[in-house]
Amino acid sequence: MALIDDLRAQARLAPESGIVAVANYGRGREGLIPLWAGEGDLPTPDFISAPAARALEGGETFYTYQRGIPELRVSLATYHSRVFGQQFSPEQFFVTGGGMQAIQLCLQATVGAGDDIIYFAPAWPNIFGASLVGGANPVAVGLDFGANGWALDTDRLEAAVTDRTRAIFVNSPSNPTGWTADTETLQRILELARRRGLWIIADEIYTRFYYGGARAPSFLDIMEPEDRILFVNTFSKNWAMTGWRIGWIMAHPELGQTFENLIQYSTSGVAQFMQRGAVAALEQGEAFVEMQVERARSARDIMCGALEATGRARVSPPPGAFYLFFAVDGVTDSLEAAFDIVDKANVGLAPGSAFGEGAEAYFRICFNRRLDQVEQAAERLASWISSR
Ligand SMILES: Cc1ncc(COP(=O)(O)O)c(C=O)c1O
Repeated sequence: MALIDDLRAQARLAPESGIVAVANYGRGREGLIPLWAGEGDLPTPDFISAPAARALEGGETFYTYQRGIPELRVSLATYHSRVFGQQFSPEQFFVTGGGMQAIQLCLQATVGAGDDIIYFAPAWPNIFGASLVGGANPVAVGLDFGANGWALDTDRLEAAVTDRTRAIFVNSPSNPTGWTADTETLQRILELARRRGLWIIADEIYTRFYYGGARAPSFLDIMEPEDRILFVNTFSKNWAMTGWRIGWIMAHPELGQTFENLIQYSTSGVAQFMQRGAVAALEQGEAFVEMQVERARSARDIMCGALEATGRARVSPPPGAFYLFFAVDGVTDSLEAAFDIVDKANVGLAPGSAFGEGAEAYFRICFNRRLDQVEQAAERLASWISSR
């Protein structure tokens, strides 16, 4: 018997990331513009890295608080108060190993074997994968792509709730579609969750990457403190810190001991010296966030304009996040097409199949990048589309 057969089924059957196949194919090619990964091209700014390096050199290398160092939890509360215009307490914040671990812990806290968790598809594959590994059953409710972009049919969401449903995962603004729930939609989801006694895991990590105002609509605008909502978040995108692996959960302080325990039994906390960098990001990083968002807005407009001009791409400018999820007339297998785009256009895209069933005809572009490269990639893609 092969060793693998003896593994727990949920681990053995965890799906491979569909983005990697194209990245492996194109990596290292001369002049290739890689738009497949969910990150920008900027390194972490020095005002964030320097305090972390100093703390490391200064000997901050011991075990630390499971929930995060007090200074960081205070900075998180202050940052949230500034962005959301409400008061927050440091007791609501729990520092995690990236947004991914925040998601994993929120899943551990709410769904297990035999439970359904609803998510909106197309979706970032880790939501589906982490639910499966945890033993829960992810149930997709499809977003619709129409003339006004991606939309959620809340009646369809309601119809998907059963006695097994324990939670709804709401990623808004969304990776990969850019779908961003308006306040009315959030209200409907919240009312449904209240009525059916469901948890909401709110992944609002792209809230600052919103092109209709200073931030996207949030459950924070409409919720009561006692609502069953857990927020996951990350330093990765706003402050160009994807490789650091540091994020946070925001939850009711009543849940504090439970999250502390879940952190203890997984990573046992985030390196203290990294948390010093995170404090600097929150306290000094506003201009950097705003610069990135403005750059992404221009990049989005360049990319959408070039693809629309071909007359053969179905594109709608995303209201949030930094991805374009689009289809090209005549393309049904975007994985095969993505290999061809690497060969002929020297541009790397993620195939829609990586984001769930039904998305095979779509491509995802990450446009959080230098504008001259976005322009070049847009031209190359447009000529690939026109030559088909
Ligand atoms: C929707 C969404 N949530 C969470 C994350 C997790 O971010 P990280 O683990 O890098 O902090 C990502 C990363 O791409 C994402 O797209």
